[in-house]
Amino acid sequence: MAKLLLLNGPNLNRLGKREPEVYGSETLDDIEHNVREVVEAVQYQLDAKQSNHEGELIDWIHEAEGVYKGIIFNPGAYTHTSIALRDAISSITVPVIEVHISNVHQREEFRHTSLLAPVCRGQIVGLGTAGYQLAAKYFTLND
Ligand code: DQA
Repeated sequence: MAKLLLLNGPNLNRLGKREPEVYGSETLDDIEHNVREVVEAVQYQLDAKQSNHEGELIDWIHEAEGVYKGIIFNPGAYTHTSIALRDAISSITVPVIEVHISNVHQREEFRHTSLLAPVCRGQIVGLGTAGYQLAAKYFTLND
């Protein structure tokens, strides 16, 4: 059975409480539940992980090689800072879709640049938590 990995980076465990005017009221559990529904409807399997630690995210990306068909990844603020995460994504052949709940381009200038997007399959920005489900749909459509 094909498997997808849903990966969330720093501060995304605070969804639901964190700046609801920017990120909405859904929790990370709600997001995982909704993505699981999309994935399981087509007989795929989903693993979901969240970490506030760059190194742990890097380890999980390395371990994804040969295991997952795709990774749905919201790297949080590491998007804008982490060459190490970019190198980790480049080091595997599993395609990664970068997801942002908010429209980072409407926000502070420092959020306009992603160090990761150039090595990702694609990027979904500003569509709220639906972005995660759309990324899952992409991976399940492209068999
Ligand atoms: C975010 C956008 C980032 O700039 C921010 O640091 C986050 C969340 C988003 O989902 O909109 O933590 O990745």
